Amino acid sequence: MSRYYLTTPIYYVTAKPHLGHAYSTIIGDALVRWHRLLGDDVHFLTGTDEHGQKVHDYAEAAGKSPQEFVDEIAPLYAQAWERLNISNDDFIRTTEQRHKVGVAELLQRCYDAGDIELDVYKGKYCVACEEYYTDDELDPGDLCRIHKRPVEYYEEENYFFRLSRFQQRLLDWYAAHPGAIKPEFRGNEAIGLIKGGLRDFSVSRTSLQWGIPLPWDAKHVAYVWFDALANYITAIGYGSDDATFQTWWPGRHLIGKDIIRHHCVYWPAMLMSAGIEPPEGYAVGGWLLVGGEKMSKTSGNVVNPLDLVDEIGVDGFRYYVLAETPYGQDGDFTYEGLIGRYNSDLANNLGNLLARVATVVGKKCDGVGPAPSPDSPLAAIAATAYDTTAQAWDDVQPSRALDATWSLIRATNAHLETNEPWKAEPGPAVDAVMGDALEALRIVAVLASPAVPDAAQAVWERIGLPGLVTDQRLPQAAAWGGYPGGLPVVKGESLFPRR
Ligand code: MSP
Repeated sequence: MSRYYLTTPIYYVTAKPHLGHAYSTIIGDALVRWHRLLGDDVHFLTGTDEHGQKVHDYAEAAGKSPQEFVDEIAPLYAQAWERLNISNDDFIRTTEQRHKVGVAELLQRCYDAGDIELDVYKGKYCVACEEYYTDDELDPGDLCRIHKRPVEYYEEENYFFRLSRFQQRLLDWYAAHPGAIKPEFRGNEAIGLIKGGLRDFSVSRTSLQWGIPLPWDAKHVAYVWFDALANYITAIGYGSDDATFQTWWPGRHLIGKDIIRHHCVYWPAMLMSAGIEPPEGYAVGGWLLVGGEKMSKTSGNVVNPLDLVDEIGVDGFRYYVLAETPYGQDGDFTYEGLIGRYNSDLANNLGNLLARVATVVGKKCDGVGPAPSPDSPLAAIAATAYDTTAQAWDDVQPSRALDATWSLIRATNAHLETNEPWKAEPGPAVDAVMGDALEALRIVAVLASPAVPDAAQAVWERIGLPGLVTDQRLPQAAAWGGYPGGLPVVKGESLFPRR
């Protein structure tokens, strides 16, 4: 059994989750659901990033202590993920004790290795990014390029992580691990950052108390990114439960394109310094834009994912997020796009196929599903659909995976239209067509379950199959001929009513 440890970024708890956060979390969830179908031993982590200047400032603006503030916001994330059917195995908050212990351990190891040293920092800082910038990284007027707002001038005594020492080691590691960053063009971007030269980065603040103190100098608290990145190992026991840590690490990270530098440059160097293996891989997503702009609390163009769920259902929303935008590229969220996808792919394709099959089996086969024929023309189409779907999930391309799965739905609808079983007299010819359509639906339920888990289970049950579709294992479950026949098929309510 292979081990598959996947993480999402941990989200700043400055406000409730928005569509952009839901985006990366849903991609992660679909991926781990696919890996569970493959029989992998999966551990899926998400959580919240609760320290640092930005969270501190938001708490202050709300008239709360930072702890009170994060205790109110963090549960909104956990609740949203529950509502979106996110199957995370753990949820880490960086204010938890297990995290503090692990961060202290990681800092100490890097310090003992001689890679953290005291120095004075003078420079420009974007609080929204929690990042220092040089003049050539800023827009005119000293505006942060991401947040379009002025940076602040900081001057303080900081401990620095000697990132500059890691350039060659990082390049060697990436050379030895081709394809570690997906999609490839994002990998090239990370290599470009490393080749462009690495600046040491500050890992502590004295101006701020809201963070984890450095174990050897408690006047300083750890820089929020050092603290945050460590969640990926502290959650699985680094510094507190070594056996569990050894079981899961190294893991894989799902990130947004805005945090490539932290994850693909800082983080592996920090780990190398501490004598820990770098992550196994990364998948880097683009941004989901609204009206061409990045959705963010700071820009004020926030879409609440839970409003969309109320409107279109959990599966409708998940499907849209996964199917609409090729992973790695930016996508533009539009309400029309959401409804359009829902109607075309879910209502007209999947929903309609199930309804038709159940109706015809009810009328022409006494409601009992016939077995498929081994030499059905749909068998080869199903085999290709499986291969393409599996390859696309492996490449972290959910939109391609779903398109491949949906090709089997489209082919099955076309097969029905060609044969018109609803016009024929009951008998072996109708049974053959319906058995094949039921078998296609069975395979579709398995392959679509990472994206639309509730609908997949509903299809499974309505065609009379017992148990949970999530208990199926690939590739066996995608092999043609698994539908046994003789099972009760029920029509039920429309799975995806048209909007
Ligand atoms: N707390 C840091 C991450 C620390 S991970 C060790 C952070 N938090 S964040 O809440 O601002 O964003 C987290 C992730 O959500 C980022 O990777 C970001 O790309 C993603 N998204 C935030 N807004 C997004 C969109 N509008 N679209 C897609 N993803 C977006 O950064």
